[in-house]
Amino acid sequence: MDEKKLIFSAIQPTGTFTLGNYIGAVRNWSSLQEKFDCIYCIADMHAITVRQEPAKLRQHSLESYALLMACGIDPQKSILFIQSHADTHACLNWILCCNTQFGELSRMTQFKDKSQRHPDDINAGLFTYPSLMAADILAYNADMVPVGVDQKQHLELARNIAQRFNQHYGEFFKVPKPYITEVGAKIMSLQDPTKKMSKSDDNPNACILILDDKDTIIRKFRRAVTDSDTLVAYREGKDGINNLMSIYSAVTGKNYDEIENEFAGKGYGDFKTAVGEAVADHLEPVRTEFAKLMADRAYLKQCYSDGARRAMKISSKIVSKAYHKVGFVDRA
Ligand code: TRP
Repeated sequence: MDEKKLIFSAIQPTGTFTLGNYIGAVRNWSSLQEKFDCIYCIADMHAITVRQEPAKLRQHSLESYALLMACGIDPQKSILFIQSHADTHACLNWILCCNTQFGELSRMTQFKDKSQRHPDDINAGLFTYPSLMAADILAYNADMVPVGVDQKQHLELARNIAQRFNQHYGEFFKVPKPYITEVGAKIMSLQDPTKKMSKSDDNPNACILILDDKDTIIRKFRRAVTDSDTLVAYREGKDGINNLMSIYSAVTGKNYDEIENEFAGKGYGDFKTAVGEAVADHLEPVRTEFAKLMADRAYLKQCYSDGARRAMKISSKIVSKAYHKVGFVDRA
């Protein structure tokens, strides 16, 4: 009776992830594998809601897949696949679109932000993005979804869609819960520590990419913006140092008191170098494993094909039942 809970999450294929994606999400995905059944996917279908260069998208999807493996997601233990390889998501998306209100979608802050940023391409896919995300989750009847703050509103909508479907057609979908991780460190920009670390930042020094080499990582940390004080301590108003402390803590496991003691009497320079070195050393095995995987395309292909097969096996049963529920004629 003690069946393991099912976790579902997905990440958009941007080729490489930031240190923020890694500490805030991907690293936790790998530890969740110990306690739960996990299904993870590369959301390439979500990616095309903004214009993509096809060759780049393909390359980035493969790289993101390999990167998740390099970060410790075991494609045997978990189901790791590419979203567009499981047709069930698009099929269920349609049904869910027909059970999602225009008003609900209009209220999504991500839609509002993205339509402002891409005023020349406010396409229907961008608008219905949350229905597809709901389809991803509901196609597996996932119990829990680890999401960051920026996706909380979408998950809330997915819950509403599931509840509405259940009301209309009879109890069917599990209503997914957010999974809140204990270490929810939000990693901020190294150049403006009041802003989230982001790959799309104009200043390349603002963001650590997990495939950056050691010298680059150390250089970026050495240039990190801090205050004019000299005390390495976690305090209100010291956003830059606080950010560096939470990063250092996340990769070394040391708490803030330990870090304060370690750097008592030393300056910011020493601290920044130490953070850079700790991060670079922590990410070194990820970089090595990533290179190894990218050099073995046959193995990578075998992993994602197997992942898609397993994803389809589960989701096609659930989606067929949803088809029946809404009144589609069963296939012969
Ligand atoms: N929209 C999510 C993001 O951009 C990615 C995503 C797609 C997702 N489908 C999902 C996350 C299902 C959780 C569950 O980060």
